[in-house]
Amino acid sequence: MKKKLSIIGLLFILVFSMAACNSKSSSGDSKKGNEKTKLDIFSWWTGAGEEDGLKALIALFQEKYPDIPIENAAVAGGAGTNAKAVLASRMQGNDPPATFQVHGGAELNDGWVAAGKMEPLNDLYDEQGWNDKFPKELIDMVSKDGKIYSVPVDIHRGNVLWYNKKVFTDNGVEPPATFDEFFKVADQLKSKGVTPLALGDKEPWTATMLFEDILLGVLGPDDYGKLWTGELAFDDAKVKESAEIFKKMLGYINEDHSSRNWQDASQLVSNGEAAMNVMGDWAKGYFVNDLKLKVNEDFGYITTPGTDGYFMIITDTFGLPKGVKNPDDVKKFLGLLGSVEGQDVFNPLKGSIPARVDADPSKYDQYGKDTIEDFKTAKLAPSLAHGSAAPEGFVTKVNQAINIFVTQKDVDQFIGSLKQASAELK
Ligand code: BGC
Repeated sequence: MKKKLSIIGLLFILVFSMAACNSKSSSGDSKKGNEKTKLDIFSWWTGAGEEDGLKALIALFQEKYPDIPIENAAVAGGAGTNAKAVLASRMQGNDPPATFQVHGGAELNDGWVAAGKMEPLNDLYDEQGWNDKFPKELIDMVSKDGKIYSVPVDIHRGNVLWYNKKVFTDNGVEPPATFDEFFKVADQLKSKGVTPLALGDKEPWTATMLFEDILLGVLGPDDYGKLWTGELAFDDAKVKESAEIFKKMLGYINEDHSSRNWQDASQLVSNGEAAMNVMGDWAKGYFVNDLKLKVNEDFGYITTPGTDGYFMIITDTFGLPKGVKNPDDVKKFLGLLGSVEGQDVFNPLKGSIPARVDADPSKYDQYGKDTIEDFKTAKLAPSLAHGSAAPEGFVTKVNQAINIFVTQKDVDQFIGSLKQASAELK
């Protein structure tokens, strides 16, 4: 009898604990069975020059929250070439990552926020006392209708021209500040057998970056901004002038540009095969952390021609998708990412400057210090190539038009395609 009772007792415990497990997973608790739901961090930061900062941030999180399992769910491909497609299918299938990399500006606001896929984070900002810790312009870039939807981890600058110091010194040329100077320097270098400008447009966004920096140099930030609101047409004389300059610049690039990505193109500059490249300052992270080059010794930097005092802004941000199983854990991660400590662990490795106004400049190299200073007074311009200036449909069409232009170099056709694409802006 006693034996019978204890078997019944055991069965009861078993059935009861199974039922408890099931009810936990179906009630959306952060536990699945006995396992805690993983905090999967979705980005496109993989490999050389990209992942160091993220790994450091994840390590810091693990140190602080050893009980929360965290997974680096990065998908390779510069500027999110592949990641964005994977993300879209996960979001459509109601399987959002715990949090994902998204650019402040149109990519966030006209994309995931407009689609109703993000939770507002005003409470988190209040709790953390963040409202005056990020520049107002940046908070605006991650807000829609008064609600804040993500936390910026960095500020990248897109209008930087990097150059190989030795190549410049050996050839007696100075970093060019204007388009005229650029072409003069480029001619001198070309005549000495050096490739003046490195490009790696295996993924077309790199060429789009070059073009947007030319647009900023020719139009200035006000008119540049008017392109995305429809106030300035793409067949404006200044846009045509920009396209002509772009065409001329393409006459100075490496022949194998279409088989290189941004890292491969940066390598041409680091090893002295090419003299300059135009790239966001993630290239500095790559130069310093992966190629072990020294700022202002091995390579130098200057704003792209005509853009002194302007700042092509790119900001990587992370938010809270609707329907995640572990919102409290996600908020803990966002809390760290938005803290001074988190930002100062991430940004010196990433090449970017901190998004917070009160981060510690002594943690940054000379490039970082200069950029932190520049940011305080520069006029900001949102990057098109990195999804801040305009919705994705338009960016995709521009990338296609640029890809064709790089090989065909037909200015009228290019302007026509831009004009056609601008229908997406309405
Ligand atoms: C991102 C950067 C990244 C770069 C290259 C940009 O869109 O904002 O964080 O380093 O792409 O992948």
